[in-house]
Amino acid sequence: MLMKNTAKVRTNPIAMNAVRASAALLGAALVMGVLQHNAQAAERSGKEIVEAACANCHATGEKSAPKIGDKTAWSKLAEQSLSSLTAVALKGIRNMPPHGASMKLTDIEIKRAVTYMVNQSGGSWVEPTSKTAAPVERSGAQIVKMRCGQCHEKGLHGAPKIGDADAWIPRLKDGLDPVVRSAINGHGGMQARGGMANLTDNEMRNAITYMFNKGRVPEKTAK
Ligand code: HEC
Ligand code: HEC
Repeated sequence: MLMKNTAKVRTNPIAMNAVRASAALLGAALVMGVLQHNAQAAERSGKEIVEAACANCHATGEKSAPKIGDKTAWSKLAEQSLSSLTAVALKGIRNMPPHGASMKLTDIEIKRAVTYMVNQSGGSWVEPTSKTAAPVERSGAQIVKMRCGQCHEKGLHGAPKIGDADAWIPRLKDGLDPVVRSAINGHGGMQARGGMANLTDNEMRNAITYMFNKGRVPEKTAK
């Protein structure tokens, strides 16, 4: 059946064009994915931005810039909201140049930089994340601790136990992909995605690899 279809596609020029068109679309989608990924990678954390663009004045207190670590100065500033402090940093004030003189910084990068300096000076603000960038991928260890371990730690309801090679190897005999798929869809006594609806396919893969390898492969040091 499959063979017959393939043969038809090969000899039918219209179908062939359709195949080419969808291959081109797929190619484009992959390229877009890569571009998006790079855009995310290019976004820097508050710490990185401060080190690159703000520390030259704010580390030393040059030109009477509020010094990083000066709790008195920053707690007073932090009485303003993040958006108002950011607005000042974007616009500049007295000896503080607009954008800290780094015009390429985006608004969100400035926000992160301000948050970082506040937090280095006794504050506890949450560094804002970009709405366009995907949330950071969670590691297998994190996900298993958060959820999968509830059943897989002790082997509840017949769940293959973490690190139990005899339980996992037969399930993995056809490779990781079918097992990832079955965990995504749910399998026997296990809900779809182990009951974590927001788990990405990649995170599922991380979690399974972690449960299989536990005790066999030295764990990577946490980031
Ligand atoms: C060329 C030196 C310089 C650089 C670079 C610089 N600042 Fe400043 N910044 C200052 C000075 C000076 C002040 C104090 C201005 C004043 O109140 O007179 C200040 C004040 C601030 C304030 C307090 C504004 C207020 O409401 O009083 C914030 C927030 C701030 N800077 C953020 C940043 C961020 C974020 C960066 C990096 C992206 C940065 N600054 C880079 C010199 C600098
Ligand atoms: C509520 C209990 C429970 C939770 C929570 C749970 N599992 Fe399971 N899991 C099971 C049980 C029970 C099985 C055995 C099902 C079967 O194969 O009959 C299983 C089987 C599996 C399998 C093997 C599937 C197969 O094809 O053999 C994988 C992979 C798996 N779980 C991954 C996960 C991951 C990853 C998580 C966390 C995101 C998770 N599980 C959370 C109960 C759970």
